[in-house]
Amino acid sequence: MSTNIEGKVVVITGASSGLGEATARLLSADGATVVLGARRRDRIEALAETLTNAGGKALAVITDVTDRAQVKRLVDAAVRTFGRIDVMINNAGLMPQALLELLKVDEWDRMIDVNIKGVLYGVAAALPHMKEQKSGHFINVSSVAGHRVGPGFAVYAATKYAVRALSEGLRQEVKPYNIRTTVISPGAVATELPNSVTDPTAAARIKKFYAGVAVPADSFARAVIYAMSQPDDVDINEILFRPTKQEL
Ligand SMILES: NC(=O)c1ccc[n+]([C@@H]2O[C@H](COP(=O)([O-])OP(=O)(O)OC[C@H]3O[C@@H](n4cnc5c(N)ncnc54)[C@H](OP(=O)(O)O)[C@@H]3O)[C@@H](O)[C@H]2O)c1
Repeated sequence: MSTNIEGKVVVITGASSGLGEATARLLSADGATVVLGARRRDRIEALAETLTNAGGKALAVITDVTDRAQVKRLVDAAVRTFGRIDVMINNAGLMPQALLELLKVDEWDRMIDVNIKGVLYGVAAALPHMKEQKSGHFINVSSVAGHRVGPGFAVYAATKYAVRALSEGLRQEVKPYNIRTTVISPGAVATELPNSVTDPTAAARIKKFYAGVAVPADSFARAVIYAMSQPDDVDINEILFRPTKQEL
């Protein structure tokens, strides 16, 4: 059992699969209360039921992070039901990689809306509560692509660099309110993320790459536990991890 996890109220966006789901499971097993946000109702309701049946506390709230009001409703539901919000994990995201010359402009818009604006809406929803509590913790999900750019990754990388930039600004600004700010940048982790790639060439390449190197999603969940379980006066600002097999 990790320390400083039990009893914390944790809101997770993108909790219906992959990193968000694995994190909800591990946090719940360690005694945290989890509030699950995503668009796929069946997935988050089934997960909340599983966690509750195992003795945990969990709530599912259908949430599209591109809608500011829905993100506010998610966070407000956590505070109304459980009395507070200790951790906001801004995790929802997608990675439809493709060369810029393919002009998949709708996908650029979607990545900006989910990967950047979704995180900002999470900050907007949780910050007032954390300010009032004089405590809290933001965990924002960037990527190795938030540290380096490659062909086909320009827009995705731009959104993940943006997550790091806004998180660093947030970190500096929330000092007076005793709020911690962590950015986690994973390498290849086996999730449904490659399914968002629509360009057949890029999809084949990314699926082959993931099949060769990706590690299970609880790698990310353990990084969350590490950041959360530090004493309250220790703020883990950045975690970058890759599968041992991943070169770039
Ligand atoms: N897996 C990796 O290798 C990797 C590496 C670096 C960074 N990341 C980042 O990790 C995060 C989680 O991705 P994952 O790997 O776990 O992929 P995933 O299995 O595809 O999960 C993505 C999650 O985001 C949610 N989501 C997408 N659009 C949404 C929207 N508009 N509103 C609310 N939720 C939305 C999905 O839920 P619904 O579809 O139910 O809404 C799903 O729960 C992303 O930010 C991704 O960029 C992943």
